[in-house]
Amino acid sequence: MSDAAASDIVELVKIKPSAVLCLASGDTPRLTCQMFVQKVKNEKLDISQLTFIGLDEWVNIPPGNEGSCHYFFRNELINPLSIPEKQIHLFDAMSDKLQDECRKMDAVILEKGGIDLMIVGIGMNGHIGFNEPGVSFDNYSHVIDLDETTLSVGQKYFKSKVSLQKGITLGLKHLQESKKVLLLANGKKKAEVIKKTVEENLTHSFPASIMQKHTHGIVMIDEEAASLLTQNK
Ligand code: F6R
Repeated sequence: MSDAAASDIVELVKIKPSAVLCLASGDTPRLTCQMFVQKVKNEKLDISQLTFIGLDEWVNIPPGNEGSCHYFFRNELINPLSIPEKQIHLFDAMSDKLQDECRKMDAVILEKGGIDLMIVGIGMNGHIGFNEPGVSFDNYSHVIDLDETTLSVGQKYFKSKVSLQKGITLGLKHLQESKKVLLLANGKKKAEVIKKTVEENLTHSFPASIMQKHTHGIVMIDEEAASLLTQNK
């Protein structure tokens, strides 16, 4: 799964060197990032025109905190590939003007001609980015109160307990407008949410179900995450 996703990024960059790539952080895309880094190095791929957008961030968590999305992107992608700052767009979730951060991100995406490839994970409550259950499908970037599940599951990224409350995230309108979306999920624990994503109703209370509407939306999963799908039986 990770290799296939990393190959998709490589293919995109070959076809369109000035592509706009948006990536989630978290456990799921980690190996994809590592494999992408390896492929770029092995194939001496020119990524000097690629624009990189970070999907989301925990509000009030500093970029140096190992649980922040910033930290993930720096560690897994930006530092290993020495990507210059001008190619990187991450939310500054420490800003006291978060609305400005949202509008800035929306403007960058618009100016670059939209997102070519978005690679996302899925939360245990069906969230994508921090588009929590009940969110509108029509939002661009926004700040949101995090759902109970996100607050408790999210502690796994932090060495010591942190106070999480809000997230800043691209919206599901961005996802719908992206030219291609890959939703990645692996492991038994994601089987239930993958079943809901692809086989149950399209509903605001389960944001990942929006994938059903995307004309180029691909759910890329391993066998364990696919284990509850009826077509799998
Ligand atoms: C993180 C993000 C989240 C995660 C989701 C799954 O940037 O956008 O929506 O993708 O919570 O997290 P993992 O991959 O850790 O299971």
